[in-house]
Amino acid sequence: MLSVALPKGRIAEETLEIFEKIFGEAFRFDDRKLILETEGFKFLLVRNQDVPAYVLHQAADIGVVGLDVLEEKDEDLIRLLDLKIGKCKVCVGIANDKKLDYSLPEITIATKMSNISQRYFSKKAMGVKIIKLYGSIELAPLVGLSDAIVDIVDTGNTMKQNGLKVVETIMDSSAYLIANKNSFIEKKEEIISLYEKINNVIS
Ligand code: PRP
Repeated sequence: MLSVALPKGRIAEETLEIFEKIFGEAFRFDDRKLILETEGFKFLLVRNQDVPAYVLHQAADIGVVGLDVLEEKDEDLIRLLDLKIGKCKVCVGIANDKKLDYSLPEITIATKMSNISQRYFSKKAMGVKIIKLYGSIELAPLVGLSDAIVDIVDTGNTMKQNGLKVVETIMDSSAYLIANKNSFIEKKEEIISLYEKINNVIS
């Protein structure tokens, strides 16, 4: 039995579709339930940002989570496979009528991804002040809370509709299959077998 942490929303749905393709049975969570038990798996429905914690502490053996979250949390987890779903970019956004001024001694960035942002601007030898937010990031530069934002861009509609433009792309992201290090030793055959099956249907 493998327990699998999935991030609520589209990535969980698309991952369960992959499992359906492999095993030829339906995997559906009942209404508001957060656990789905089948013969071979126990699926857990968690918040995207919480997937690494469940897998790190072995409450789940494996999980599916965006590379952006993995890079932000930087936990000691095994990255098994790029599932090539949930594709998006992590970008720097700024108001349409402004530009990134690298000559400033410090830039204020509003973001959910403080570590990624910190690393990115440090590499550019630019001082950065991070304002950590939990959502509606695009609002921050419009009301003077920050000079710019670092956020996820998928279709680009949220930035566009709020008068922002992408000025830099920090990284491309997609959902990865990850494993707990101990689980990978204890349940190696099960995990490798699943890895191979998933790899076959996605490639
Ligand atoms: C993300 C991100 C943007 C939006 C970008 O939020 O923070 O607001 O999606 O998507 P777009 O380029 O297609 O407009 P998400 O909906 O994932 O919600 P969250 O704040 O709960 O992470």
